[in-house]
Amino acid sequence: MTKLRLFALLLAFVPALGLAASSGPLESSGTDLSDRASLQRGAGLFMNYCSGCHSLSLHRYSRIASDLGLSQELVEQHLIQGDAKFGENINTGIAAGDGNAWFGKAAPDLSLTARAKLGGPDWIYSYLKGFYVDESRPLGWNNTVFPGASMPNVLWELQGIQRPVYEEGHDGMQHVAKLELASPGRLDAAQFNQVARDISGFLQYVAEPAALKRESVGVWVVLFLAFFTFIAYLLKTEYWRDVH
Ligand code: HEC
Repeated sequence: MTKLRLFALLLAFVPALGLAASSGPLESSGTDLSDRASLQRGAGLFMNYCSGCHSLSLHRYSRIASDLGLSQELVEQHLIQGDAKFGENINTGIAAGDGNAWFGKAAPDLSLTARAKLGGPDWIYSYLKGFYVDESRPLGWNNTVFPGASMPNVLWELQGIQRPVYEEGHDGMQHVAKLELASPGRLDAAQFNQVARDISGFLQYVAEPAALKRESVGVWVVLFLAFFTFIAYLLKTEYWRDVH
């Protein structure tokens, strides 16, 4: 087989790999790295609901503060959990061994997860929305995006409790067709979507902090080009005036 054909064949498998990585299509997260308020809320939600188990070991609180425009005082009062210092990396309170014992698996570091997962922030968004009650699982929860995940639904009080509606698939097996809200949480669906979006956006920023910079530089580049086009236009009319 020629190299080109082999390459084409490999490419053909890429979408198949994507499907294998998750059980259903992902929902679009709608994250927006230029929405600073959303990223700030995401940081707060992450520290409150996730950092007990997950670290962001490649990041310091101080870096997140300066990137997201948060004061040291605010970070120290509201974001830092435990007795960590402002300049320290974001670690979790749990030792890996305890995580293994409690959940059967240590909670992974999430510094790069938004880049590692196929679908990026959409994967995280769909994962956070995909928890449902499943008594057959050790912690009583399962997930549509990550079947058999050993993470409990930590946001259930906000989201409410979802139950699965099963459907027989082509293979004759029962599959989760959709999730239904069995008992409501503190937030309505739109508010909970925003919570999931804020957290996904924050993790997207965390996985590539330079993207924030790139977006803000991008605006200036476009403005500069527009300004330069204007100058060039003035120059052109100036030169051609004498010709006519
Ligand atoms: C009680 C501990 C705990 C809390 C709190 C927690 N998680 Fe998890 N999380 C886990 C465990 C354990 C896993 C590993 C699941 C597995 O591999 O089966 C996991 C896995 C994940 C993964 C998949 C990572 C990967 O590489 O596969 C993501 C993303 C994630 N958690 C996000 C979050 C977010 C966002 C929050 C906060 C809203 C959160 N988690 C809160 C325990 C926790």
